[in-house]
Amino acid sequence: MRTAGLRYLFHESPKLLSKREKGRDLSQLKNDLVIRAARGEATPTVPVWLMRQAGRSLPEYRAIRKRGSILDTIQDVQLSAEITLQPVKRYGVDAAILYSDIIVPAFAVGFGIEVVAGKGPVVAEPFKSEEDLKRLRDLEPETDTAYVLETIKVLVEELDIPLIGFAGAPFTVASYLVEGGPSKTYVKTKALMRSNPKLWHKLMKRLARLAISSLESQIKAGATMFQLFDSWVGVLSPAEYREMVAPHTREVFQTLAGLEVPTVHFGVGTGLLLDQIVDTGCTVIGIDDRISLDEAHRITGGKVALQGNLDPVNLVIGHDVALRESKKVLLASASSLGYIFNLGHGVLPESDPQVIKAVVDFVHEYGNEFRRGAAAQE
Ligand code: CP3
Repeated sequence: MRTAGLRYLFHESPKLLSKREKGRDLSQLKNDLVIRAARGEATPTVPVWLMRQAGRSLPEYRAIRKRGSILDTIQDVQLSAEITLQPVKRYGVDAAILYSDIIVPAFAVGFGIEVVAGKGPVVAEPFKSEEDLKRLRDLEPETDTAYVLETIKVLVEELDIPLIGFAGAPFTVASYLVEGGPSKTYVKTKALMRSNPKLWHKLMKRLARLAISSLESQIKAGATMFQLFDSWVGVLSPAEYREMVAPHTREVFQTLAGLEVPTVHFGVGTGLLLDQIVDTGCTVIGIDDRISLDEAHRITGGKVALQGNLDPVNLVIGHDVALRESKKVLLASASSLGYIFNLGHGVLPESDPQVIKAVVDFVHEYGNEFRRGAAAQE
């Protein structure tokens, strides 16, 4: 059934949206399709943006990326703005996503976290005890991350499409702080959660606060909407998610609901968690490629808009496979009235930019045709 839930109606109120102090005046946007789809509206063409659309898959990124840590590049306002704009210019996507990283707030408050190229976030002294909470003081965005807010201000002047801000969700950021780096098994994270739940919840509360102040500052600086990345939460069972994570994720979305911007939740392997994620207060759910969009729609009951979910590997395999699989994604998206095309996870560095461009053009040209065709057969 194609229904727009209550949340959409709430977000459609023009009176609420015109409040300039809440963030950007959306009337400046030439193309607001992502926003409209995020509010559960049908759109004249299917909007598309891609996670990790900026970055190493682009030769123009590799050409200007400074040596050293990505964190140095993020602190260079002009460079970060230029990198954010690169995929917009090359692909004609319908939204830009700020070039930054989920570990920036923890880095900025001095937790002691770095990003190592080819590996990911690395922590010299991982989070172990109550004492370590002291390294997670509150974020003062205007001073601690002034460069992020400056980059947003530069971008807002340049863009006539939405700018997506983002933060790491408490669980995914915690996993880096506790493990000390990327992990396949999450042994230390699960050990903390299961052996010292009190400390776990304190850590999650701190990280929710960090995410909240970072996201709020990004929206006030001019970002149009935000995505909360809980990339690795799919490693938990539904029961553990309910007890250990959902309250903190909900805290982030509910605290920021007053900003009245679309809010996206994204995670990998979240098929069995979707019935809970839909109740965290987000208005859009980013679906990964291990579950079809029609199944995701069935579980979430049309209460949120959907975003996703082409397997990013298709962009490495080649043109024909990528278009064929994109068509399948569009067909499966038909029951969701509000829909934003994206990947099931980020663009892989070895992707072919020409294939990416072909997919973006394909979605714009044929997206609604496939969606309408599939809906007619329902
Ligand atoms: O999507 C975008 O284009 C916006 C920029 C963005 C980056 N990181 C830039 C980046 C976003 C949204 C992120 C979020 C992020 N960072 C996540 C959540 C999204 C996801 O992929 O699930 C996570 C888990 C991180 C942590 C992180 N930072 C990882 C795993 C890596 C990759 C390490 C590597 O070198 O392979 C980073 C570094 C990073 N963040 C790069 C980019 C473009 C590559 C580093 C470089 O250019 O040196």
